[in-house]
Amino acid sequence: MCGIIGYRGQRTAAPLIVKGLQRLEYRGYDSAGVAVVEKGKLRFHKRKGSIQDLIISMPELGGFRGIGHTRWATHGVPSEDNAHPHMDRSGSIAVVHNGIIENYIDIREELVKEGVKFRSETDTEVIPHLIAKYYDGSLKDAVERALKGLHGSFALAVIHSDEDVVVGARMDSPLIMAVGDGEVFLASDMPAVLEHTNRVVYLQNGDIVTIDPDGYRIWDGKGEEVHREEDVVDLNLEDAEKGGYSHFMLKEIFEQPYAVHKSLLGMPINGGPGRAYTGRYDSVKIVACGTSYHAGLVGKYIIGELSKMPVQVEMASEYRYSPHPKGNPLVILVTQSGETADTVAAAREARLRGRRTIAITNVVGSSITREVDHVVYTRAGIEIGVAASKTFTAQVLAFYIVALNLGMAGKTMNADDVREVKQHLRTLPRLVQKTLDTAPDIEKKAKMFKDASSAFFIGRNIHYPLALEGALKMKEISYLHAEGYPSGELKHGPLALITTETPVVAIAIRDHTYEKILGNMGEVSARGGPILAIGDERNHDLAKYSDEVLYMPYAPPIFSPILVGVVLQLLAYYVARDRGCEIDKPRNLAKSVTVE
Ligand code: F6R
Repeated sequence: MCGIIGYRGQRTAAPLIVKGLQRLEYRGYDSAGVAVVEKGKLRFHKRKGSIQDLIISMPELGGFRGIGHTRWATHGVPSEDNAHPHMDRSGSIAVVHNGIIENYIDIREELVKEGVKFRSETDTEVIPHLIAKYYDGSLKDAVERALKGLHGSFALAVIHSDEDVVVGARMDSPLIMAVGDGEVFLASDMPAVLEHTNRVVYLQNGDIVTIDPDGYRIWDGKGEEVHREEDVVDLNLEDAEKGGYSHFMLKEIFEQPYAVHKSLLGMPINGGPGRAYTGRYDSVKIVACGTSYHAGLVGKYIIGELSKMPVQVEMASEYRYSPHPKGNPLVILVTQSGETADTVAAAREARLRGRRTIAITNVVGSSITREVDHVVYTRAGIEIGVAASKTFTAQVLAFYIVALNLGMAGKTMNADDVREVKQHLRTLPRLVQKTLDTAPDIEKKAKMFKDASSAFFIGRNIHYPLALEGALKMKEISYLHAEGYPSGELKHGPLALITTETPVVAIAIRDHTYEKILGNMGEVSARGGPILAIGDERNHDLAKYSDEVLYMPYAPPIFSPILVGVVLQLLAYYVARDRGCEIDKPRNLAKSVTVE
């Protein structure tokens, strides 16, 4: 997600800004740029791609004030023109922006009528043009006036070649001000500036700030000058590597909108005869371990539903020793690390059996890639937390792509079907972000599990594997004993264990099994089991059947596993944290399990 930084002080601005942008890299981005004022002239440099690309191509930029940005494309493709900073016509004002300007089309049309020529497709570019329109010697006043006409969310940093000031503004997007010795920074978050200072002022919605040779001043949304307390943050540089998150796992959970976006861009839908997915197989066999196995179970429903093929899922440690009945399945091996010994061995076994093989993995060049006919790379980015989070989400995502390819190759899907699925897939980064926005509520309700010694997770249909994954995440990082069940199975034995001390997570998404799961929740309540239900924002009746509800955004049921997965990861994380567990390196679990 976009990151912004601003600087005014006594040191050369550009290197500090670029370093800050590197510290914001974890947020995800696809282009970057810097603007400074050097000897009264605005100079800028932007690049599509990585900050390293920006650095390599960057001319020497002097000057003691400037702004920088990492952009994650929303309006307009990743390109140099669309990268920030954006300038006004005269090239004296530069703006970096994080957020979305909802009414930019109307403003743009107005400005075009007034003769403004736009250089980018972004919503942001209206801002420098508006500021230029209102500029009358005070950048702060012009920014304030421009903001009055904007709807949406923004964090901004603005410079002008004629005034020794950096102006910042905040509305519904993160922006902090960090105060050093004779210098002040603006940043999306603290890691960007932590190596220079740990004094911070948290700006509030509606605030506008100016940083000039006399220091900084803040005005609130009503235009009144205000004093905001400085805080000293208790973070060190190692935390900065974690992007300010207390654990890599949390950081990685929060990186998922970008991981989904990146993975979707990187997983092509080929289709057509002669490609990886065509062949003489009659079914699909998915083989994996642990969390990847659960992604495979979700994949079974996705492939079955979209491409109508028979699918079986098997644990890799079992596959090698299982009988091989007649038939010719396409074998899909799922492993984020690409190194899991059981899965790599299963790939070899599949080949020995003469199967066509596909691997879904997150690690380029890993062992599994050398054992299969075709590789689908998820592009979740490096996952440091040992318990899988964003790689699970990316694996599930990969199954939509595999299903589309199989559907097209097998002619069970036509172009309209494919288009519809692709449209839904494109909404996922936004929906994942909305799900992450519910984290404070999940954190609150996680308290239900803090002192429990056992918990159950139940779900039906495509959400049954999520119950398994929720239970696995819970046990591996919080050491709370947890079991996942298809909710219809509870009455065949496990209900014996339900008491007032056994919290139950019920995944109750409104699909064709919804009424049934409500019934199963009734069976739990009748035994006094406290229920935490996970539903979507349309499930108004869910509160009647449960003690607490976690609401996520609505997605059609076939896509909701992605969102439910995020909720369950956060739930396990907060429970583990409340129980004082060492989250990033849980006991007895390794990132790549290279023994069979
Ligand atoms: C769970 C977890 C493990 C792995 C399993 C397979 O959080 O991390 O269960 O999912 O060891 O690992 P990969 O996907 O690397 O084959």
